[in-house]
This record gives sequence, C-alpha cells and structure tokens, in this order.
Amino acid sequence: MRIFLDTANIDHIRHAAKLGIISGVTTNPSLVAREESADFKAAILEICSIVGGPVSAEVLSLDAEAMIEEARQLSSWHENVVVKIPVSEAGLEAISVLSRENIKTNFTLCFSANQALLGALAGATYVSPFVGRLDDIGHQGMEVVKDAVEIFEYYDLPTQVIAASLRHPLHMVSAAKAGAHVATVPYNVLMQMIRHPLTDIGISRFAEDWRKVIEK
Ligand code: G3P
Repeated sequence: MRIFLDTANIDHIRHAAKLGIISGVTTNPSLVAREESADFKAAILEICSIVGGPVSAEVLSLDAEAMIEEARQLSSWHENVVVKIPVSEAGLEAISVLSRENIKTNFTLCFSANQALLGALAGATYVSPFVGRLDDIGHQGMEVVKDAVEIFEYYDLPTQVIAASLRHPLHMVSAAKAGAHVATVPYNVLMQMIRHPLTDIGISRFAEDWRKVIEK
C-alpha cells in the first residue's frame, strides 16, 4: 500500500517527503482554504516540486462541461496533477471524457461500492471512499474500501482505491489489510504511526545503560 499525505500544508509535506514514506499528496478545497497561500496554482506547483508522485487537485465546477474545462486547466499545470472530481452524474460524464484524453482523475466523495464501481467503469484512475465520514454516521467505512478492492480485482479493473478520510492509526492498518492501493493520511496520523511509547522507553533505557558503561 502506498501512502499519500492528505494536506496542502507545505511544511508537513516537506517533512513527510524527507522521511521517504509518502508517494503522493491529496488536497481538497477545505484543506487548501486552511493554508495561508491564496494562489491555488502556486500551491499545487510547489507540492509537485516536493513530491515526485500524484498530486490531487479538486474541481469546483458542478456541471460536466465546466468540470471538463477546469480539469484540462488543472492537469496542464503539471504532469503529476490528478484531477479530483466529485461523485455525480456530471462527474461521471466528465471522467469518461477526461479518461479518453489520458487526464488522470480521482473520483472523490465516494461513499458506496456502487459509486466506486461506476467511477471505475467511467475510467477514473482512482476512487476515494471516505472512511471516517461514514464511520461518523454509524457505518463501517472500511467496508466500502474492501468491497471496491474486491470488485476491481474480480473484474480486472485498473482503477486504484484510495482509502480517504482516515482519522487514526488503526484506520491505516485496516486500509492495508483491506488491500487499499493507497491510503491518504493526515500529517498528525502519519506522525502517530511512527511513535510507540515502548520504542521511546527502549531508546532512553539503551542510552542510560550505555552512559553507565562510559562513566565507569
Ligand atoms: O481525503 C479526504 C479527506 O480530506 C476528508 O477527510 O477528515 O474531512 O473527512 P475528512
């Protein structure tokens, strides 16, 4: 499973990239709005210069024609830009046109295996089930990831599943066990994945024991 960072925060992206553990970035309008930069294009280009992998940028248009135009624009910014298109009839229409133009897409705000299947049939490069938001309303969000992975494998569909809206480290383990191709993770969850109290205790105990040897 590859890990993408789910943020538009440049410092966080720079740090995670330095650790060598992320292979892409996903953004959405809410994540971009949270950052200082008012220039969306400059922010996406800066992210592309840090991470040598797919960088998702979302369209804001709601009708198919406008989505397609916006997607062409976004994808012309950099070869690694993947255009996020929300689930809707217009979104499916846009993806089917864009896939014929080899423009990479991420079918987002996906909350069911049916939506994921339709995205794959339209030619989406990625579909993004939002696990945490389903959990929030009492559903098992990871089931959508599992179902989509199983369906795509069964029918040899090339679309990749991005487990999205992940909120805690256990989501990452479940996404990996569900066979997600990618998990897109907030920075704080990525940092939590690294830490374990027994590791910290072990490191200080080793240092302490060694100091005793040196001080003898
Ligand atoms: O990747 C989708 C993600 O950004 C949504 O996360 O926490 O707003 O549900 P969240």
